[in-house]
Amino acid sequence: MTLPDPRGPLTPEDRIVCALDLPTLDEALRLVDSLGGRVRWFKIGMELFTREGPRAVESVLERGQGVFLDLKYHDIPATAERAVESAGALGVSLLTVHAAGGPAMLEACARGRDRCQSPPAILAVTVLTSLDASALSAVGIERPVEEQVLAAGALARSAGIDGLVASPREVASLRRELGGELLIVTPGVRLASGGHDDHARAETPQTAVKDGADLLVVGRPIRDAEDPRVAAEVFAQAIAQGAASR
Ligand code: C5P
Repeated sequence: MTLPDPRGPLTPEDRIVCALDLPTLDEALRLVDSLGGRVRWFKIGMELFTREGPRAVESVLERGQGVFLDLKYHDIPATAERAVESAGALGVSLLTVHAAGGPAMLEACARGRDRCQSPPAILAVTVLTSLDASALSAVGIERPVEEQVLAAGALARSAGIDGLVASPREVASLRRELGGELLIVTPGVRLASGGHDDHARAETPQTAVKDGADLLVVGRPIRDAEDPRVAAEVFAQAIAQGAASR
């Protein structure tokens, strides 16, 4: 089964990225296998990658599924560029960088991507959702968070980055201000019937997709479900409803 291109077109199921927020590869692969091919993308972040390394990526790819490598690169341009090439050589489909790395780093990352045999989609993190106005001020950024998000998104777009990671509350304004060409990937989604975990402002899959999100990152609602396949199906149905009302 070939992997879809994250840049679309995508079925509702193809829009789900399951976060492998688990400490060991054994546990992560159990989750991948329990989904039986229902979900095509798996997000590997710092926790799993730091412990298990590239074999975590390779093991997911061996199962015919795609990898979103969420290591949020932020370094000098030459180093970030080579890291993107290394990720591309591993075969990941999506990866993250910090827009705060600045225009030269983002452009270097785009060049690294373009040298890959199968270029991954690069997503920029605009502003971490854990940062509020006072935290931004502490690092010298005085403008409102929403303005900083839009400015970082515009910077990433003009540097040739493929898309953004955005909170569901930011999707509509990013689409309005930056247009349709950027891929928008959204964590922090919860079913209307489910709990919110630690998300202060979760949004439903229907709303996130209706507002213009392309891919949704889902962690605990699938990981902790009695039957992860059923949970993924329910999310896919909600996504289909959102896509229909776009
Ligand atoms: O369990 P949950 O669905 O909340 O997991 C969401 C995933 O998205 C986690 O891997 C988390 O690290 C990530 N995330 C993120 N940015 C946020 C919130 C969550 O990348 N603002």
